Amino acid sequence: MSAPLCIAALAVLFWLAADALLFTPYDIRLNRRRFVLRRVPVCLRGKRILHLSDLHVGGWTYKEVFIRQQVHGRQADMIVITGDLLSSGKGIPAILELLEGLQAPMGVWFVPGNNEIEEIELMPFVEQLSGLGIRTLLNEAVEIAPDFWLVGTNDPSLDKDDLPMALRQVPPGAFRLLLSHSPEVFYQASDAGVELTLSGHTHGGQVRFPFLGALYADTHRTGLQFVMGEYRRKDSVLWVSPGVGMSLLPIRFLSPPEILEFEVAM
Ligand SMILES: [Fe+2]
Repeated sequence: MSAPLCIAALAVLFWLAADALLFTPYDIRLNRRRFVLRRVPVCLRGKRILHLSDLHVGGWTYKEVFIRQQVHGRQADMIVITGDLLSSGKGIPAILELLEGLQAPMGVWFVPGNNEIEEIELMPFVEQLSGLGIRTLLNEAVEIAPDFWLVGTNDPSLDKDDLPMALRQVPPGAFRLLLSHSPEVFYQASDAGVELTLSGHTHGGQVRFPFLGALYADTHRTGLQFVMGEYRRKDSVLWVSPGVGMSLLPIRFLSPPEILEFEVAM
């Protein structure tokens, strides 16, 4: 290879590495979206819901400052968090500080991810969240308003989910918004006719390649079928958030971190 070609190749490699290490991981976006569903209850029309996933908080950094500003200033009607708030017990003080004072008229809701099960004691953490007014759903459902039920499972990536048990509490015909850490629940959810499922866990693959997308997602049931974005099956919609944080390696490429504000419409 000639010297100019070598220099050009090194420059491209340097730029890619800098992007993956220094730029994309901190390019947190507040994305807005409207999900078109087959039906929407009256109580949800025009309501704004904030979806956070995979914060992987390990301490108080620029990322946490940004999230706090964005989330606390939005005045959403409802806030939902689909797991992996932290990567280890070290992140507990920062995550509690970040979430303190978070409020929404239709509640702030959480379902656990694999990190809340593998890295810390889940139930004491659930108690701490409860002290902040954040309620955790563990294979259960709650009526938020007439005809609108929020359903939450324990983590599917560790096979802790029991969607049939959670759905048993919902009256026939009611609108169901499902929170589940991993999209692995989606075949079951769409078979059950759940209108909208929100999940995360995959980080969009964290490192994506042009034309190929993600080459890896830690989802043993569904592989690379539901990695990032919107999917539809049998009139049922799934949203897979790329999340905000990172795991394993502190890099992201073509998968910028996201906080989502969404509405539902017909
Ligand atoms: Fe996860």
